[in-house]
Amino acid sequence: MEPACQEWSPGPVDLDRLDRVLAEHAGGGGSLIPVLQHAQDAYGYLPRVVIERIARALGVSPAQVFGVATFYAQFRLKPVGKHVIRVCHGTACHVAGAEKISEAFSRELCVPDGETTPDRLFTLESVACVGCCSLAPVAMVGGETFGRLDGPRVGKVVKDFRKREGA
Ligand code: FES
Repeated sequence: MEPACQEWSPGPVDLDRLDRVLAEHAGGGGSLIPVLQHAQDAYGYLPRVVIERIARALGVSPAQVFGVATFYAQFRLKPVGKHVIRVCHGTACHVAGAEKISEAFSRELCVPDGETTPDRLFTLESVACVGCCSLAPVAMVGGETFGRLDGPRVGKVVKDFRKREGA
């Protein structure tokens, strides 16, 4: 049976947490990256309203802050779920059907690649080789590796994680 898909909304952002980050880390020049790192630790990602407030506090334009946040891979501009599912699209996995594995996760989770489920449990990503090529096609969920995947196993992986979470 196909899962029912829901809309997701990020909801309001509590800016008090950012004020504490700014009070502790916004002193002097060169503080943009540490401020972004601590803001991301506080929110799990960098919401637009946080980027705008950081820009105001540091006396730079939001475009400059956005530019830095998009340049460095460590920064996320969208929230991530509790479990990040990384589907390997390296050469061995590509040959072994990585595209179908991504599609199976996408169908199971009701989100496209790169997005997070409405219940914030899962984020689906495509990544380069994760170093287990002999198990292709491979996906990682958090620190766990799942190899020789196919559609039914993808469904089972997601169901098992949902069960662990009581969802
Ligand atoms: S190509 Fe997928 S693990 Fe190496």
